[in-house]
Amino acid sequence: MEKLLSALGPVCAVIGAQWGDEGKGKAIDMLAGHFDVIARACGGANAGHTIVVGGKKHVFHLLPAGSLHEHTRVFLGSGMVIHLPTLVEEIRTLRNAGIDVVPRLSISEEAHIVLEYHKEVDGVMEQRRAEATGGKIGTTKRGIGPAYMDKAARTGLRMGEVCALAKQPHALERELQWRASLVTAMFGIEPDVRHECTALLEALSLIGERVVPMSDLLHDLAQNKRILIEGAQATLLDIDHGTYPFVTSSATTAAGALQGLGLPPRALTSCIGVAKAYCTRVGEGAFPTEETGERGDRLRERGGEYGATTGRPRRCGWLAIDDLMTAARMNGFTHWNITKLDVLDAEDSIPVGTETHARGAAHKEQLEGWKKSTRGLQSFDALPAAAQQYIRYIEARTGVPVALIGTGQGREDMIVRA
Ligand code: IMP
Repeated sequence: MEKLLSALGPVCAVIGAQWGDEGKGKAIDMLAGHFDVIARACGGANAGHTIVVGGKKHVFHLLPAGSLHEHTRVFLGSGMVIHLPTLVEEIRTLRNAGIDVVPRLSISEEAHIVLEYHKEVDGVMEQRRAEATGGKIGTTKRGIGPAYMDKAARTGLRMGEVCALAKQPHALERELQWRASLVTAMFGIEPDVRHECTALLEALSLIGERVVPMSDLLHDLAQNKRILIEGAQATLLDIDHGTYPFVTSSATTAAGALQGLGLPPRALTSCIGVAKAYCTRVGEGAFPTEETGERGDRLRERGGEYGATTGRPRRCGWLAIDDLMTAARMNGFTHWNITKLDVLDAEDSIPVGTETHARGAAHKEQLEGWKKSTRGLQSFDALPAAAQQYIRYIEARTGVPVALIGTGQGREDMIVRA
């Protein structure tokens, strides 16, 4: 572990290589104790990770997984779109378990706000798309696309602006009112402006003091502190480089994370790519290595593949090696974390998609299965030979070393190889 930490250097990003849900939280949890700052850069409450607090499972959407480590400072970056009532709920959940994140929290004044009506617009747009084309994007209905639409149209509300408006009577309501009139004209939705205002003011009474000019602060911290950047969603969902239009609305790559935090590209000293040993997708869009039959069901059951945010069963299939190669190049991965290797323990042989590039039909290569339990193993040498070969195959094809291998649900079920 010491060797890995020194290889990672002071500023490390953890980025998903597939369609999200790779299990980034476990590597983050393991590494966070060794970092001073945990930063989330982009996206919103469409992300979801399960955290056990006080013996109870909770799904968090906005606070990074590393927030539980009480010595860390937690940053919510400028590239994010934040639904404040969700953030307040997460803060309260932690408080009830005796963890107060507020004094260690910094929220960028440039982050945008997701209002209730953004969620309604998300639903209306999905419905209209389905009526017109017969298909949906399959969004999480968290208002992400509509909040980024406002951001790009320069009608978005930012954290800093809301803090300033909240100090003048009725100013916030006036600002919301004209935006609401646009929403009514475009989508036939009548936002409840009063309710939006009350929710915003209530949230600000808890976190208003934590809204800061983030990039200066983070830049200063980068001089002598260790920063762990927690990616949200993943490379194939990137707005520019993903499987458009079946993507999210933010930049999910390492470059996107740096942009979202206002850090220069040269600040990054390492980037861990996270990929499942197989592959899953929630929502619509091409999935060339998808396995819809009995084997797909087995992956889903063994891997517990149900969405943390929506509860939807995830579509399951096999690793697409070309997508990993592309993700490794695009993000500049220095290490891999291959998660959930044990889910493949029951397979006779393991198909791996080649020449897929996320869109077209997949050509499948068959790799040997190992038919032995790898659950809970902590050393590479203890893995069956075929499982070692599987890992080496990923390294050989992508040119990136596999430093971490997940072998089960527990915190300890991880092989650290560096
Ligand atoms: P949106 O981000 O809610 O607009 O959803 C757009 C697409 O991204 C849908 O296919 C979602 O299922 C997918 N998506 C968004 N966030 C996540 C995530 O954290 N994990 C997996 N898929 C996600």
